Amino acid sequence: MTRSWTNPLRDPRDKRLPRIAGPSSLVIFGVTGDLSRKKLMPAIYDLAHRGLLPPGFSLIGFARREWENQDFGEVVHDAVAEYARTPFRESVWNRLAEGIRFVQGTFDDDDAFDRLAETVHQLDAERGTGGNTAFYLSIPPWAFPIVTKQLSRSGLADSDEDTWRRVVIEKPFGHDLASAQELNSVVNHVFPEESVFRIDHYLGKETVQNIMALRFANQLFEPLWNAHYVDHVQITMAEDIGLGGRAAYYDGIGAARDVIQNHLLQLLALTAMEEPVSFEPGALRAEKVKVLGATKAVGPFDETTAAGQYAGGWQGGKKVPGLAQEAGFRKESTTETYAAVTLEVQNRRWAGVPFYLRTGKRLGRRVTEIAVVFKRAPHLPFDSTSTEELGENAMVIRVQPDEGVTMRFGSKVPGTTMEVRDVTMDFGYGHSFTESSPEAYERLILDVLLGEPSLFPVNEEVELSWKILDPVLEHWAERGSPEPYAPGSWGPPSADRMLERTGRHWRRP
Ligand code: BG6
Repeated sequence: MTRSWTNPLRDPRDKRLPRIAGPSSLVIFGVTGDLSRKKLMPAIYDLAHRGLLPPGFSLIGFARREWENQDFGEVVHDAVAEYARTPFRESVWNRLAEGIRFVQGTFDDDDAFDRLAETVHQLDAERGTGGNTAFYLSIPPWAFPIVTKQLSRSGLADSDEDTWRRVVIEKPFGHDLASAQELNSVVNHVFPEESVFRIDHYLGKETVQNIMALRFANQLFEPLWNAHYVDHVQITMAEDIGLGGRAAYYDGIGAARDVIQNHLLQLLALTAMEEPVSFEPGALRAEKVKVLGATKAVGPFDETTAAGQYAGGWQGGKKVPGLAQEAGFRKESTTETYAAVTLEVQNRRWAGVPFYLRTGKRLGRRVTEIAVVFKRAPHLPFDSTSTEELGENAMVIRVQPDEGVTMRFGSKVPGTTMEVRDVTMDFGYGHSFTESSPEAYERLILDVLLGEPSLFPVNEEVELSWKILDPVLEHWAERGSPEPYAPGSWGPPSADRMLERTGRHWRRP
């Protein structure tokens, strides 16, 4: 039994006191992977450093390696020292380290899971974790059925009225609608939907949550946020890195499944959804589900989509291999490393406004942004030469790396003639706030421990996203090889043609 205590001096409206997670422990499966080392362990330390974890918080790693608690502790230590956002403090580390344990075993090993159960109970007794445990499955989806089954068999998935058990899962949530449904049913067989936290780390980003503040806390933008004024929307997620070292995950998956199905469609949902009646998780989800349900890929796909694969060449003064030459990729791999699609949100607000989504590896630079591009003014009472340099008004939500918002509009160039040219007005986080933004995983792990589900896509959102993308993926599968593009460029020529056919062009971010 956990007895709950309420601090009589604590007012929930007081923003100075952030919510601290209650007694709990976290088990990570796949603890030797990159995600765990580069993101999860550092985020846990950062939370500890900010005082947001409960005093008895315990972290248990589960993996095949022959490690003792101490060896695992060292791995966490090194990951924290290298990747944590906040400075390393011996006292914070020592406190966290007291609760670190390791359980050695494979997923098919019943004894190992029994040992894991024992460890969880022991920590509960020794450190007061309140019988509350989250299981983070940082493992490939083929392992979900066996791990969830083991958690159920060993009693680890059981909770009662006073305790909770939650499971955290990472994409890929399947590779199409059918496989996503299968995966969801496997997980829901053991954990009820309200205990499942699906990570889409884009939703943990400050700039992504700010889309809602921007749209719904202001009067300025919402009246223009519709098909009367908006010409089209471009959502770009570009990366300059290649895929060396990621073949096992990426070959056969490709750019569309890797990020359009999740991150970019979530960005679309937040950009295009109606105002939720409140920010209660249910109300927010209802709007996201509605807008995703109204979103379709527009054809003919040969003209409205583009798939590319980076070739070898020079990027930033360095010689880089093409995808087919990267270690682990099949020479004849048809995996796309660039993907662009045209979508339409079929409702009154957005009918006729194309939403162009694109992503790629080895592009010009790393940048994620949402550009809402407005129609031209219906009439320009100037000589035609005065407005030659005037583009379209745009509002650009700069998700990363230079976080902020840019507005672009025309302005008179100083001088004796009337010449109008584009200028920009900028909001940058660095200029406006002294607080620095937490890493996405800090926010999301804390929300799992708090049981706050707003930032986690539900089953239905995942399935609707596959429904949008599946027709395009099927078309690409029939068509064969993606088009090569040069490293450091902005994708294959078909991507440019895709917009030129309607007289539009991609922004150069
Ligand atoms: C992941 C993708 O979800 O997001 C990766 O699997 C990608 O391919 C990564 O590199 C990018 O994340 P961020 O936060 O750096 O934009």
